[in-house]
Amino acid sequence: MRVVGIAGSPRREGNSTTLLETALEVAREQGHTTKSFVARRMKVQPCIACEGCKRGPKCVVDDDMHDIYAAMARADTLVVATPIYYYAASGWLKAVVDRTYGLLDRESRPRIAPGKKLYVITAQEESDRADGAVVVRQLERAFAWLGMEPAGSIIATGLDEAGAVLERPDLLQAARELITNGPSG
Ligand SMILES: Cc1cc2nc3c(=O)[nH]c(=O)nc-3n(C[C@H](O)[C@H](O)[C@H](O)COP(=O)(O)O)c2cc1C
Repeated sequence: MRVVGIAGSPRREGNSTTLLETALEVAREQGHTTKSFVARRMKVQPCIACEGCKRGPKCVVDDDMHDIYAAMARADTLVVATPIYYYAASGWLKAVVDRTYGLLDRESRPRIAPGKKLYVITAQEESDRADGAVVVRQLERAFAWLGMEPAGSIIATGLDEAGAVLERPDLLQAARELITNGPSG
């Protein structure tokens, strides 16, 4: 199985990134191939709605998003992780999500094979899990355009400083079990 991760936190040691990397580490232990992207380290321009991807075979904006397109096309499983910023996904991740428009043809049919599994990880400071759930739902709806199937999520609450998740064995364990068991937790 090929697993692709996309980290939406701009922080080194970001909590959502640590949970993502923990999940990918387990996938590797189980013999799967993994590849991860950190949105902040890439040049991904927000979608400019030029519709070039509908007139031609692919997105015409020439930047690092094409590396993500290629990895998503090959992947069996996608794991996206994001901090909650003002009750939404980070702008870093949102730019990537909007650019997946380039993977839809002029009839809005996916240019990549359907049936890939989608996992979502969110990290937030406040305790209300409903805030993370909104973002999980939004990302699941967005990636449903590409025929992806929700397979599990982690809504991590009570996390502020980078690295705080290392003191949360419950969340680290949920990350270890995410791809194998697909829990919603
Ligand atoms: C710009 C900004 C906006 C934030 N908005 C929220 C918010 O709406 N709700 C919340 O619970 N935490 C909010 N936080 C806190 C982060 O979600 C929290 O620190 C989280 O652990 C960050 O994830 P990361 O460690 O993966 O970067 C915000 C932090 C920043 C920097």
